[in-house]
Amino acid sequence: MADFTPMGKPVLPTHVGIIMDGNGRWAKAQGSVRLEGHQKGAEVARDVVKWAKDLGIRQLSLYAFSTENWDRPKLEVRGLMSLLAMMLPRSLPDMQQNDIRFRVLGDIAPLPGSARRAVEKACAETATNTGLDLILCLNYGGQQEILAAVKHAARWAMQQPDYDQALDSLNPELFRAMMWRHDVAPLDLMIRTGGEKRISNFHLWDAAYAELYFTDVLWPAFCKQDLQAALLEYAGRERRFGRTSEQVL
Ligand code: FPP
Repeated sequence: MADFTPMGKPVLPTHVGIIMDGNGRWAKAQGSVRLEGHQKGAEVARDVVKWAKDLGIRQLSLYAFSTENWDRPKLEVRGLMSLLAMMLPRSLPDMQQNDIRFRVLGDIAPLPGSARRAVEKACAETATNTGLDLILCLNYGGQQEILAAVKHAARWAMQQPDYDQALDSLNPELFRAMMWRHDVAPLDLMIRTGGEKRISNFHLWDAAYAELYFTDVLWPAFCKQDLQAALLEYAGRERRFGRTSEQVL
């Protein structure tokens, strides 16, 4: 297995986020329908969770359904929701065996009942697992997340003795504590498959200092070596967070 700790320095990202793009193109290349691509993509997602856990990653967030994905053809949206309702209960034994805690980022209220119930059950049944946090981003949008935190902050400020002073006291740390992701580690590495070089409303707040990694591999063809390649590239990056190279050495 590849070594991600050169010179004894731990360089594994704590939190990896993946934009799983390319399901449709993969299906088309196989002469299949888009849903076949999503189905294969969901199987790959299950494998990636296991690989990430084995490699020692603590948090993995997967962009399964964005706030904008509702605009896809109705049949595809329905298919994705059915896939979720079907795959999650089937993945539960694997999650238990691998000590995976299943969590969600996004507003699941508008999901069809069967998908929502499957999500809630997986969250509840794996709540005490500690091996890896799998954070499925469902009906998730980075702008929506920030907007929800802005509303939260405004309400919070209204409840303080001095509104202006409360607003002025807001800083990035305090604001982040009001976001949906408040108890998730900052994103270290964002991977996007499928060749496009966009963030697509994923983890906008935490994209500030995340390392970005783009690969042409279509998500259903993503394999363990592809994950290792991303981690190796991450290990070679110098994260300066605005400081100079000399300061971080
Ligand atoms: C983007 O590929 C992929 C998605 C919008 C859905 C990702 C979903 C999965 C990997 C399955 C697991 C998720 C659930 C909900 C069970 P695309 O369709 O945009 O691909 P294209 O760019 O090739 O058309």
